[in-house]
Amino acid sequence: MEIFRNIQSFRSWRKKKYGKIGFCPTMGALHEGHVSLIKKSKKYCDYTIVSIFINPLQFNDIDDLKNYPSNTENDLKILEDYEVDVVFLPNDNIMYSKDSSTYVEEVRLSKNMESESRPKHFIGVTTVVAKLFNITQPTHAFFGEKDAHQLRIIKKMVIDLNYNIKIIPCRTIRETSGLAMSSRNNNLTTKDRHKAKIIKQSLDLAKIALDNGEKSIDNIKKIIKFKIKSEPNMRLIYVSISNSQTLEEISHISGDNLLISIAVKLNNIRLIDNITYEFS
Ligand code: PAJ
Repeated sequence: MEIFRNIQSFRSWRKKKYGKIGFCPTMGALHEGHVSLIKKSKKYCDYTIVSIFINPLQFNDIDDLKNYPSNTENDLKILEDYEVDVVFLPNDNIMYSKDSSTYVEEVRLSKNMESESRPKHFIGVTTVVAKLFNITQPTHAFFGEKDAHQLRIIKKMVIDLNYNIKIIPCRTIRETSGLAMSSRNNNLTTKDRHKAKIIKQSLDLAKIALDNGEKSIDNIKKIIKFKIKSEPNMRLIYVSISNSQTLEEISHISGDNLLISIAVKLNNIRLIDNITYEFS
């Protein structure tokens, strides 16, 4: 496994490679969710590139950035075990020169859900992913459905900016309790990790209600809110029910598939999850 910390050395590796080049961008503190992307890339592609970069531009809360978990030594062990070909491991100065003044912004899908509670977050995401795509030049890039809003925006960016890259969605990997795996789970106490399982449970209750014919979006949201409220240390940031294609908030059910997304804070740690609901 080769590790490159600057763009020039990465590019001299890249220019000699042909075939399917898979890319899995990450912010490190790797877990089974990241590993599922890597496994898929290994299966589909001739080479697999993983980047580890905690992108300051996508954090709108300085404390959130400071507290973001990092364990590069362990990450590299994991990547070696899964026989990743190359790791791109830049630092802030490599990714952003001091006079950098160009940003990539998607303006239609970046409105509700994550954008409302994290203004400018997606400008940070699309800018860094565009830069990473330009550096790594993959043919395929792997993104998790756990970050459904991000995945949808990246797909749109690739179409709008004519990137010749196939975006491969990867399903959400969960702990046995149902809690979606996340680097941020590292910051939860064992007790809170246990409590956090009610996030997925609240989404499952929404699914049961829909299965039973519930037609009121308000009622479905109430079911989710009620479940989240049952845990005193958990604060709901938003619950969103949108059209899974357009991401537009839905006020009544018309048979279009739904994306039900939720963000909470549990003792100040921000956690997100979602499910899609398909009307068959
Ligand atoms: P990060 O949170 O490290 O996630 C990297 C990739 O792993 C993303 O595509 C994310 O959706 C996926 N992922 C995380 N948890 C997952 C889970 N439980 N199951 C399946 N996939 C999961 O997302 C980012 O980093 C950043 O925004 C990034 C795209 C790297 C840009 O900085």
